[in-house]
Amino acid sequence: MKILAIGDITGIGGVKHLESNLWRIRDREHIDLTIVNVENAGFITGPSPDTAERVLAAGADVLTGGNHTLRNKAIYSYLDSEPRVLRPLNFGPEAPGEGYTIVNINGYRVMVVSAMGNVHIEPCLDSPFDHIERALRREEGRYDIALLDIHAEATGEKMAVAYAFDGRISAVFGTHTHVQTADEQILPGGTGYISDLGMCGETMGILGMEPESVVKRMRTHLPIRFEPAQGKPRADGVIITVDERSRKTTEIKRISF
Ligand SMILES: [Fe+2]
Repeated sequence: MKILAIGDITGIGGVKHLESNLWRIRDREHIDLTIVNVENAGFITGPSPDTAERVLAAGADVLTGGNHTLRNKAIYSYLDSEPRVLRPLNFGPEAPGEGYTIVNINGYRVMVVSAMGNVHIEPCLDSPFDHIERALRREEGRYDIALLDIHAEATGEKMAVAYAFDGRISAVFGTHTHVQTADEQILPGGTGYISDLGMCGETMGILGMEPESVVKRMRTHLPIRFEPAQGKPRADGVIITVDERSRKTTEIKRISF
């Protein structure tokens, strides 16, 4: 099974970029399942229902979340009704929506989990380790392959989560920092791993934002509004090949388009 995972969409430019390119890349790479992190698709807020629908129509099967997902209240009732769109599972029980879903891909039940770290990131949620463990136990026997988007700031935390579930989750990919890391690897137990997928949006900027406004805010500490970056959009991610019988990753490679 070939899985394409794409890093944080950073605004409407990233959505349009996927609308223009994702199906072509899926066909070219023979992708069976595409996962896209959309926590910034509303530009420093989560997606609206309309934006989420556009990304799904563009060729995504499951959308994962992060710290900005629930900033857009317009998505709350949509999250309750659309199981393909996730928010991190370690939000409290009052949060709308779900933190994981199970989709049928070529006859295999694939559990996709969206979780958030709690080191140097707001909001500081409950331990991702415990929530992931509970979700895996709750769904034991109901899934064949599990995949995890760990949305976190600290590389060490993402790696610790990956090692904690090595061999039980087929692939763990980090999101949130918007910069693709070059550490894609297969852990000893067979879990494919990368610390950060990168981003999907305009690239002439700072993590998807126009540089002048970011620099000004950092220098003055005044509440200056960020603007979207300019330039050619790009989508970063990985293609993961999972052997359905062993549930292990056999290949993980970076991709940008
Ligand atoms: Fe984030």
